[in-house]
Amino acid sequence: MNLQQVSREDAAPVMARQFTESYPGYPQSPAEILAYEGHALEGAHEEHWTNDEGTVAIALFAPDETRPPLRIEGEVHTSDDANYPHAVHFAEERTRAVGTRDLSIWTRSDKSLRRTTLESRGYALIQTAPSSKLDIEAFDESRFEAKITSCRYPVLTIAELAVRGFDWMPALYEATDEMARDVPDPHDYVQIPYEQYAERLKNPMVYDHRLMFVAMDGEQIIGYTRVTPYQLDPTLVATGLSGVLRAYRRQGVVTALKVRAILALRDLGFKWLRTENDVTNPMYPLNLDLGFAWEWDWLQFGKSLQAG
Ligand SMILES: CC(C)(COP(=O)(O)OP(=O)(O)OC[C@H]1O[C@@H](n2cnc3c(N)ncnc32)[C@H](O)[C@@H]1OP(=O)(O)O)[C@@H](O)C(=O)NCCC(=O)NCCS
Repeated sequence: MNLQQVSREDAAPVMARQFTESYPGYPQSPAEILAYEGHALEGAHEEHWTNDEGTVAIALFAPDETRPPLRIEGEVHTSDDANYPHAVHFAEERTRAVGTRDLSIWTRSDKSLRRTTLESRGYALIQTAPSSKLDIEAFDESRFEAKITSCRYPVLTIAELAVRGFDWMPALYEATDEMARDVPDPHDYVQIPYEQYAERLKNPMVYDHRLMFVAMDGEQIIGYTRVTPYQLDPTLVATGLSGVLRAYRRQGVVTALKVRAILALRDLGFKWLRTENDVTNPMYPLNLDLGFAWEWDWLQFGKSLQAG
């Protein structure tokens, strides 16, 4: 395969093309790839490999700065299916080379060859995360009127909070940290330091203050949802983290936030809202109830490598 190690920036156009080809309906621009890879923790191990033809892209990330890394999360793409097993083998060799045993690789339920390749190499399915999509124009908000009316907490955008002079960044950091700890995940939660969080949120392509919605209890942010338009498909929008503080669950807060976000997207002329949830997350049936329809499952496979 003749792979070369390249920087994150040089890998991004190849990864974006591979991702978009591999997963039709999920178009990713190089800037989007960089933005989401920028969510890796500073100082954590990462490496990127591509070939001259741009037909193979491999990215390996550690969840935190531990040396050797506790585990590696791999993104493995090949234009040619025949190369996929070699690319997976390469990712395993690199994982061993950095002194790590645990490697996980994401794929999608409609990529049966990738799935069977991983299974035949001893990987086990460790997470299923259905992707689902809502027709924004067809959304019927009247079904949620009673729940929203009974929700006691006003919903605002971050843009609106900022106009009021509210110091929202530390409050959002604290709130989202509590929410994110409860998102079902086969791996341990890793807290991001505040400075890195604040830096991450400076990217308006992902964090558009008009599309970040919070529920307030007085001066406290108690609920949150973010939506982010795709760059390459002007009809399509992605959902980021949604959640509510533990003490405020089952009071209709996230339903109110989501309905508000969907109506804002409708006003802006978007057609589709996509979301992805762990299959065991109560957020998934909540989304189905809102009208989201299943598209495919993201599948995370994991393997404990033998010493090599
Ligand atoms: C999942 C989560 C976002 C739900 O938020 P919420 O504000 O409590 O949800 P709502 O009150 O709007 O619930 C609407 C409906 O969803 C269902 N639901 C919500 N939480 C549920 C749970 N824990 N168990 C079963 N059903 C649940 C119920 O049908 C509920 O209606 P009901 O309370 O009248 O029965 C919240 O539990 C949370 O913040 N979890 C941690 C973060 C997370 O996983 N976020 C999603 C991934 S990004």
